[in-house]
Amino acid sequence: MIAIGSDHGGYELKEAIMSYFDSENIEYKDFGIHKLEAVDYSDVGVVVANAVTSGECDLGIIICGTGIGISIAANKVPGIRAALCTDTYMARMAKEHNDANVLALGGRVLGIGLALDIVKTFIETPFSQESRHQNRIDKIVVIEEQNSK
Ligand code: RB5
Repeated sequence: MIAIGSDHGGYELKEAIMSYFDSENIEYKDFGIHKLEAVDYSDVGVVVANAVTSGECDLGIIICGTGIGISIAANKVPGIRAALCTDTYMARMAKEHNDANVLALGGRVLGIGLALDIVKTFIETPFSQESRHQNRIDKIVVIEEQNSK
């Protein structure tokens, strides 16, 4: 199950991604927004992040105008590794090396065709499982623990 959410800057791209998911029978849960209205990207980023860390969803996709604000917000949730990707190489590396669990996209940055290729690559690429990558991720967990209140 994929959690998906956007602010107004990502609304159009979110609709396109959900149409793609519908056509491919890919299960997703839409965390809004549900109509084009101005909202704060930080509010959407945290609900998608919580859906992933709670185990309700396996992966998340978050979209704002640039993908920057919503990825910064999601990455404040412990356990979230949100990767802002602008091409398919980044999407593949985000999974292979970083085991990213959230994909962030910029709705005002990417065309729909490229964005869908990024989404497909992100969903289909597994984590490499190599120990050097796991060690680096483990160090991120330590940073989270050291900075938790
Ligand atoms: C909203 O205008 C815009 O600031 C937001 O979508 C995002 O790009 C912020 O990082």
